[in-house]
Amino acid sequence: MSVSVLDSSRVSADIAASVAAGPAPIHIRKSRKSRLPDIDMNNIPFGRVFSDHMLVAHCHKGVWGAPEIMPYGKLEISPANATLNYGQAVFEGMKAFRNKDGRTVLFRIHDNWERMNYSASRMCMPPVPEEIFVEGVKALVKLDANWIPSEEKGSLYIRPIYFAADEVVGVHASESYTFAIITSPSGPYYSDPVKVWVEEHYVRAAVGGMGDAKTAGNYAAGLLPDKLAKAQGYHSIMWLDAREHKYIEECGTMNVFFVVENDTVITPSLSGSILHGITRDSVLRILHNRGYHVEERRIAIQEIADWYNGSMLTDAFGTGTAATIAHISEINYAGRTITLPPVESRTLSNMVKQELGDVRSGRMADPYGWVTLL
Ligand code: COI
Repeated sequence: MSVSVLDSSRVSADIAASVAAGPAPIHIRKSRKSRLPDIDMNNIPFGRVFSDHMLVAHCHKGVWGAPEIMPYGKLEISPANATLNYGQAVFEGMKAFRNKDGRTVLFRIHDNWERMNYSASRMCMPPVPEEIFVEGVKALVKLDANWIPSEEKGSLYIRPIYFAADEVVGVHASESYTFAIITSPSGPYYSDPVKVWVEEHYVRAAVGGMGDAKTAGNYAAGLLPDKLAKAQGYHSIMWLDAREHKYIEECGTMNVFFVVENDTVITPSLSGSILHGITRDSVLRILHNRGYHVEERRIAIQEIADWYNGSMLTDAFGTGTAATIAHISEINYAGRTITLPPVESRTLSNMVKQELGDVRSGRMADPYGWVTLL
């Protein structure tokens, strides 16, 4: 099936419905037959399989229409679409889990909603109302709850997207927008410890740019260097700052942490060009709660090389919704290889990973207020 993001008569009808009804009710149109029996849930690659339904909502001149949950399908788009031409698009990544009692758990859903609206404001887009984002995620995940893999197999990755829908060639903020949510049962993003390549030529974002917003364009900027790093046998890049090419920013898909002599944890401070990672924040809160010494500051790549040379670098890991806690096994900087200790010896990152998993699964009480039970 195909849904037009441009059909203004449909948008006006939706707007009329929502104006009449106050806070937008969510219309649900169910698929006739689930595709779930055809999916091998024992072997699910990341982000390639999508559940039965999606949510779509339209906004025109700041007025939102009623969101609709419908069978997963294609969106129809004009070649004059403002996103295709000027890249006014942001997105989010979050996950639903099955907890130890078989109940559905959403993790830090309000933080994702707030971050999407932060990204939207940077891209000159109107905010997505809470009742569309948060209630939309809840309704969609409830409907497709059978698609949530068991804890050992993975999680249901939730991808809200939000983009300009005007059909006009000319650089200006769009008047119409489409918000959609799709979900995807997924295994781990990285199945092995991650080898990273420190990128010394290309840059991801400069302060004052849009590096701290979750925009599609930030990821596009990384595609060529990522491909070059992969050709050298690396999984991901580690970005340096745009001004001096000296200070660590983040990796291609995750924020990054280093551990010195097993107790001092250091992560790049939010410089204005780094994503405000929600998993990054969860890790910081767990570490503070457990009394660790954590430094959020500028980290010169040379410091990493010096700690390594002095046998002081005991752990390095990435954090992200998709990556969760991803151990870094190797860092290539200026042709030299920094090899990290075996994963089994990484007490700190293994503890953090365990605690995050325990909070989500309900094996541990949630002292942080991160979990929403459906
Ligand atoms: C996430 O971690 O959720 C992201 O959006 C990163 C993406 C590269 C999968």
